[in-house]
This record gives sequence, C-alpha cells and structure tokens, in this order.
Amino acid sequence: MNDIKTDIPNLVLESPDPERDAPYALSWFASRFGKETLLLMGNAESEIKPHSLESEKETLQRFIELEHENEQLTWVIRDQDKTIGAVWIELVDTPEVKSPAVHIMIGDKDYRGKGIGKTVVGEMIRYVKDDLNLHDIYSRHIASNESAKALLNSFGFSNDGVTYTDSNNLSWQNVHLYID
Ligand SMILES: CC(C)(COP(=O)(O)OP(=O)(O)OC[C@H]1O[C@@H](n2cnc3c(N)ncnc32)[C@H](O)[C@@H]1OP(=O)(O)O)[C@@H](O)C(=O)NCCC(=O)NCCS
Repeated sequence: MNDIKTDIPNLVLESPDPERDAPYALSWFASRFGKETLLLMGNAESEIKPHSLESEKETLQRFIELEHENEQLTWVIRDQDKTIGAVWIELVDTPEVKSPAVHIMIGDKDYRGKGIGKTVVGEMIRYVKDDLNLHDIYSRHIASNESAKALLNSFGFSNDGVTYTDSNNLSWQNVHLYID
C-alpha cells in the first residue's frame, strides 16, 4: 500500500508505524476530548478502558496484521511530522457494515473542521474506484454524529436502511455511495 499525497500541503496518508504513531494516539485519547472522540466513533461507555502506550502500539500493530490478512487497509493521517488521525477501509463484510467500508478519525481535535476529513475521504473514494476497481463504498456512523453525517452526505452518501440500535443501545446509521 503506497503513501497518498493529498491536495492539502504537507498532509499525507501513510502506513501505520506503531513506534512512531502510538504516542500521538495516546495523546488524543488521554486528552480531555478523548472520551468524546471514542463515543463519536461508536464505543459504548462500558467499553472505554484506560489507554496506554502499549495498548496503542497493539492497536496499530493489529492494523498492520489486518492488512496482511487482506481484511483492512489503514493509513495514518500525517501533517508534516505529526500524526493527527487515521482512516481505514474494511475489505470484508461484517455483520455491521458491507464492504468496502470507510472509517475515519481525526484524533487531534485541533485539526477538525478544517476540511481535512473531506480531503481524506475524497482520497478513499478515489482509492476504492481506481485501485480496488469497485464502484460501491459503504460506511456507518452514530446516528447523532452530525460531523460524520455532514462529511459523508457532502459526497452523496445516502442512507442504507433505517437507523438501528446495537446491543449497547447505540443508535447507528449505515450509508452507501455508488461511485460513477
Ligand atoms: C467526522 C470527522 C472525520 C470530520 O472531519 P473534519 O475534518 O472535521 O470535517 P471537514 O472539515 O472536512 O468537514 C466536512 C463536512 O462536514 C461539515 N462539518 C464538519 N464538522 C461539523 C460539525 N461539527 N457539525 C456539522 N457539520 C460539520 C463541514 O461543514 C463539511 O461539510 P460541507 O463540505 O458540506 O461544508 C472529524 O470531525 C472527526 O474525526 N471526528 C471525531 C471522530 C468521528 O466522528 N469520526 C467519524 C466516525 S463515522
């Protein structure tokens, strides 16, 4: 999987590097916004455990393994020398969402609302079409996550089924885009 340069100067998508990226990931989740980010991503309160450098390295290492198993492609989002988030494409259907499914998290809250999500998801849509040669792309978001909803809607994603509630009582919306 190659690095992806974006139209935003110095913003690149790169393969995860656990040693390099784990301290950044820990800083997002240890910040006062960390819990809010995890809830927006669809973690239930009861699932949120203390994060550590070791647990972040393990998560990043797992992303690398999933790529070797052809189950998921993951890029970290980097601004110059700083890791600010991650974006991933699930390559296999799960009970929750059809594949390929894109998911994004800008972990560093200072970087949100600046058009980065839009640029990165745009690159993922291009990747699915040009590199995976597929025309359908899926995602899902917590139904009340207005920024995720606005981001996906801005590309023309539309609801794939109705809002549903999971076993944690979280309300989700699945979405789909046909790429011409
Ligand atoms: C959701 C997320 C990826 C969006 O990325 P972003 O860089 O903040 O968003 P952008 O600045 O690119 O904005 C994209 C669109 O969403 C809209 N938007 C951004 N933040 C918004 C907010 N808080 N409320 C409503 N709309 C919002 C923008 O106006 C823009 O729409 P437009 O193109 O029609 O003007 C980012 O906020 C994030 O990582 N949040 C925490 C984790 C999360 O929710 N991930 C999504 C899980 S599905």
